[in-house]
Amino acid sequence: MSKRIVTVVGARPQFIKAAAVSRVLRAAAGLEEILIHTGQHYDENMSDVFFKELEIPRPDYHLGIGSGSHGAQTGRMLETIERALLETKPALLLVYGDTNSTLAGALAAAKLHIAVAHVEAGLRSFNRRMPEEINRVVTDHLADWLFAPTTGAVQHLKDEGLPDSRVHLSGDVMYDAALYYAAKATRESRILETLSLKPKGYILATIHRAENTDDPSRLAAVFGGLMEAAQAMPVVLPLHPRTRKMLQQAGLLETISRRLRLTEPAGYLDMVMLERNASVVVTDSGGVQKEAFFYRVPCVTLRDETEWVELVELGWNRVVPPHGAAQVADGIRASSAARGAEGSPYGTGDAAQRIVKVLQEA
Ligand code: UD1
Ligand code: UDP
Repeated sequence: MSKRIVTVVGARPQFIKAAAVSRVLRAAAGLEEILIHTGQHYDENMSDVFFKELEIPRPDYHLGIGSGSHGAQTGRMLETIERALLETKPALLLVYGDTNSTLAGALAAAKLHIAVAHVEAGLRSFNRRMPEEINRVVTDHLADWLFAPTTGAVQHLKDEGLPDSRVHLSGDVMYDAALYYAAKATRESRILETLSLKPKGYILATIHRAENTDDPSRLAAVFGGLMEAAQAMPVVLPLHPRTRKMLQQAGLLETISRRLRLTEPAGYLDMVMLERNASVVVTDSGGVQKEAFFYRVPCVTLRDETEWVELVELGWNRVVPPHGAAQVADGIRASSAARGAEGSPYGTGDAAQRIVKVLQEA
């Protein structure tokens, strides 16, 4: 009889991570996957597009949770995931990253004495005001298998007293995805032509982190800086729905849409092409920071800190806290010509194989 694994996903970056692992998992002997989509992200371009482009199997359960405050959203997920777990009785539950869907999945399983595997374990910002930091710390401490993408992440887990027997250095599944979909992106994406962009002739930006969108002075600094940068080079910005909403509320959307090239959230294949051909990437996303490095594009991270410290150490990433528009614009200018050192902190593109092997033998 095969070992049943329930995977819980819900937000954009998790679809991409799960696509890389799911493909290997479903081809492996002795494993069966049941996929639960919490519905945390639900717009066509925040969810369905990834299932189509990345050929992710249709979810077996779609919980339709939608948006809400942290407590309400996580609570609704907990209740419905529990129901699905009681029905499917898996041997283990697999979660990714640090969203509310991650936390709800891990907590629901742990309470039912179902073993938990956490992919992207051990990441830390050491900033407990970030919802993601709470989610990842709790998930790591509930998990039986901790798949750490980097040696730094392994060290954080050790420092928190988690036993070595649970920790596996797997590499980063996002690197697997970047390698796997590179050719498909080149073949299928027409985004540069559609937006009339010249390779290395534009800045690519993404902003969605709560600490930037929900703080009016940081939001103004981020977008003030991007508008200043846009005087020298076009800034393309696929707009996350959270950011659109907050810009609208702040009365900034109209001015910004005249100065920046705002687009709808991009599909993954278009995003890969936009990243690969950008002159600089400016972001507060975790995944986008790493992808900039995969394509050797300098990156400015508009946050107070980053979990992906190896990118800063190699010289590909500069952390610029968005405390003022001029500071943001200066950071972007200074990074345009930056080149970092070579290195491969995220493994060799076989993270999914390593993870699945451990789960097969578990
Ligand atoms: C979530 C994760 C964050 C991750 C990000 C990836 C948590 C706490 N946060 O943040 O770690 O980096 O996803 O993108 O889990 N909305 C829509 N349509 C959608 C989804 C969201 O309009 O399909 C809007 C809603 O107004 C919603 C807001 O965006 O209230 C925020 O969505 P939510 O999923 O709560 O958090 P994200 O900011 O997307
Ligand atoms: N991404 C995308 N379209 C976009 C913005 C991001 O496909 O418009 C992809 C990006 O390439 C990366 C992932 O989504 O693979 C990162 O997700 P996000 O920035 O939403 O979340 P984070 O990584 O910060 O948790």
